[in-house]
Amino acid sequence: MKFDSKKNMTLTCFKLLLKKELFSLYNDDEIQVIFFELIENFLKISKIEYLSKCDEIILDNDINILKNKIIDLKANKPLQYVVGKKKIFDITFQLNEKVLIPRPETEELCSWIISYNLSKINILDIGTGSGLIALVLKKKLKNCKVEAWDSSIEAIETAKLNAINNKIDISFLLCDIFKAEIPMNKFNLIVSNPPYVSYDDYENIHERVKKYEPNNAIFVNNKDVLIYYKCIIQKASLSLAKNGLIFFECNHINIDMVNEILINHNFKNIEIRNDYRGLKRMIKAQK
Ligand SMILES: C[S@@+](CC[C@H](N)C(=O)[O-])C[C@H]1O[C@@H](n2cnc3c(N)ncnc32)[C@H](O)[C@@H]1O
Repeated sequence: MKFDSKKNMTLTCFKLLLKKELFSLYNDDEIQVIFFELIENFLKISKIEYLSKCDEIILDNDINILKNKIIDLKANKPLQYVVGKKKIFDITFQLNEKVLIPRPETEELCSWIISYNLSKINILDIGTGSGLIALVLKKKLKNCKVEAWDSSIEAIETAKLNAINNKIDISFLLCDIFKAEIPMNKFNLIVSNPPYVSYDDYENIHERVKKYEPNNAIFVNNKDVLIYYKCIIQKASLSLAKNGLIFFECNHINIDMVNEILINHNFKNIEIRNDYRGLKRMIKAQK
């Protein structure tokens, strides 16, 4: 089967082609996921429909689209950027290389916050990226106001678009958290998934991540890898409303140090949660 063969390609043939083209980059399970994402998003054929349509011929025009997607995938572009969107908590997030791809750990952080059934509070999401945390909390918590801040104009534009497309009302602010003041007593909950990977670990990060995801969303360009946590905790300790909450996603390697910083700023009721891989990943504290 040739890569550029267009004639009479069935869905099953396309699946075999995908495997042939991507086997050096992805394992069988991953290729299976990629196949279903591609046919769902570009051919509008669901996993279940595939069972009855596997011998259907793909139209030439669609083959061209899929062929270009294979070229992107072979260039190591992450699937979520190739597809250009991801559905989380019934919200469709448009994604591009200016925003971090939403991670399952961050979805877990959202679920943890949602589990408190908070209502009528003001929430601030610092470093909103695609708008993931802000949009999910606004949608799932009753009568809350949510503000989302980021220092990247492209991130703010993407998050704004996601809010508009999903009819979710969020206030956005382009700002650098190191320079911004958090208004006194305005917020009852501050949440952040800040950059937390040291450039010392650069070599250990997957090429796909380094090449395509915004490096300033992942890596901390400072000798002090906890600089974001220190800054946010210090500002939150002064500005959070009484009994206000703070939630962070953290690197499991140094979450205990974030715990220490929270203690040093007199936060109480500190709790650490593991992610789905059993790594200490999320932390919550109260003013
Ligand atoms: C790890 S990403 C998190 C994105 C999103 N919240 C998520 O969980 O998928 C960190 C985000 O912080 C933003 N950021 C980096 N430095 C910042 C700063 N000094 N002030 C505000 N935002 C910053 C980046 O642009 C990026 O969108």
